[in-house]
Amino acid sequence: MSADGFNTSPPPGARADWTIDQDWAAYSAAEHEVWMTLYRRQAELLPGRACDEFLHGLDALDLHRGGIPEFARINEELTRLTGWSVVAVPGLVPDDIFFDHLANRRFPAGRFIRKPHELDYLQEPDVFHDVFGHVPMLTDPIFAEYMQAYGEGGLKALGRGQLHNLARLYWYTVEFGLLETKQGLRIYGAGIVSSLSESIFALDDPSPNRIGFDLERVMRTPYRIDDFQQVYFVIPSLRALRETTLADFSTIYERLATAPDIAIDAMEPCDRIYTCGTQAYARAGGRMASR
Ligand code: PHE
Ligand code: FE
Repeated sequence: MSADGFNTSPPPGARADWTIDQDWAAYSAAEHEVWMTLYRRQAELLPGRACDEFLHGLDALDLHRGGIPEFARINEELTRLTGWSVVAVPGLVPDDIFFDHLANRRFPAGRFIRKPHELDYLQEPDVFHDVFGHVPMLTDPIFAEYMQAYGEGGLKALGRGQLHNLARLYWYTVEFGLLETKQGLRIYGAGIVSSLSESIFALDDPSPNRIGFDLERVMRTPYRIDDFQQVYFVIPSLRALRETTLADFSTIYERLATAPDIAIDAMEPCDRIYTCGTQAYARAGGRMASR
């Protein structure tokens, strides 16, 4: 995800578009070991939890091979499948830079990996979150299109001063989205699949609300960046998500400019409810989250 910072010039050593070389040879054995530990935990947990598109993407990119993947190798297959590629960045990048990359089917990924004592909690997205979490879905043609359109839409929202509304769409789909399937709810959000504890919480815990996706409803709902989500939105299919977001958002933005936000734990009369959460976790103070 992008930063809201005002710093618009790239840090020393980065290119004008904020990209850097991954410098794969520089990773230490201990760093590769961190990836493998995280990888093993998630690979064991996610069948039956992550959606098929994600699991297929994981296979297609052969992220099973040991250690932190080399972006150049991932990109051979990813580009062939959907025209996307992964580019390395030093950390969070400014919004306009981020959207421009997405609009051109480039996914900016952090190069660094968390430390062994940070397996369960991390403030800034690292290479495991960015690559394991986000890149498998980019092998799916429908999702690939959605992400590119989001990048274009982001530039538009920035220009209108309504990025806070569009950012919620990203958060509740790309990062924390759930998908309904015949076998039950499945995860497609990167923030969930890269987290051991949230991969369980998001599907199994009675605390959060789980509500059918509605575009304007989502864009009126704030989110939390510091703990498990209090609400998850469920899409009926990736195709449906793409269809609802294809339309021009101009009239939506006009309505949103005066529409009040919806409280993070509220239920609205027209919500399609999958789970009416107890909110017990949030009320008890939370803070078990990791991603
Ligand atoms: N259709 C949106 C608009 O007109 C752009 C968009 C597409 C935003 C997909 C998000 C996701 O602004
Ligand atoms: Fe992310």
